[in-house]
Amino acid sequence: MDTAFERVETARLVLRRPCAADVEAIFRTYASDPDVTRYLGWPRHVSVEQTAAFLTFSDAEWRRWPAGPYLVCSHDGTLLGGTGLAFEAPDCAATGYVFARTAWGQGYATEAVQALLDVARQCGARVLYALCHVDHWASAHVLEKCGFVSEGIVRRYAEFPNLSPGQLSDVFKYSRPLAPWTPSDRK
Ligand SMILES: CC(C)(COP(=O)(O)OP(=O)(O)OC[C@H]1O[C@@H](n2cnc3c(N)ncnc32)[C@H](O)[C@@H]1OP(=O)(O)O)[C@@H](O)C(=O)NCCC(=O)NCCS
Repeated sequence: MDTAFERVETARLVLRRPCAADVEAIFRTYASDPDVTRYLGWPRHVSVEQTAAFLTFSDAEWRRWPAGPYLVCSHDGTLLGGTGLAFEAPDCAATGYVFARTAWGQGYATEAVQALLDVARQCGARVLYALCHVDHWASAHVLEKCGFVSEGIVRRYAEFPNLSPGQLSDVFKYSRPLAPWTPSDRK
């Protein structure tokens, strides 16, 4: 297994592959919080079994692709949130992010996504995209700060099960072309 991308460090953050021991912390820190999960595409977790199922999914992604879901922690190991790359093809992946309520407004999402851009390039992706609910200005702003460009609104495209279960909502589609990675990009 190629483990080259399992841990990434930024000035304030460590992005790392989730492991089974993280289940309680993920559940408690963000996955079960109604405020945090409002605009997410997955149902808020009401039991740790749902969080364990996410970890099974994460392992499958990491087995199949060069990278997958990441936890975002501070350098002292405190869990702050999650992000990741969801590959759809070797050269195309989607991204998303979720942070604990107490971690909002400190630039962490922007810092994490900027780090993921480099990971995605090193993994061979040539485009990264992201969807967000049309009312979710904070998320759209994170994407724009990271160089994503809006491709416009896709009408009635995605379900937000914690916001309007059973309905399809309009989303902004953002994409970010990625230059090929070269050895001179290494800092
Ligand atoms: C959306 C989310 C990831 C942002 O994380 P964050 O670490 O607070 O983001 P950052 O601090 O990097 O950047 C947020 C930016 O949006 C701005 N912002 C915050 N609320 C805003 C709003 N209602 N409208 C417009 N901009 C807003 C902030 O001012 C900041 O911009 P600035 O740096 O120019 O001041 C976080 O709120 C979160 O985890 N929410 C719950 C999960 C979620 O909704 N994920 C996204 C699903 S698409």
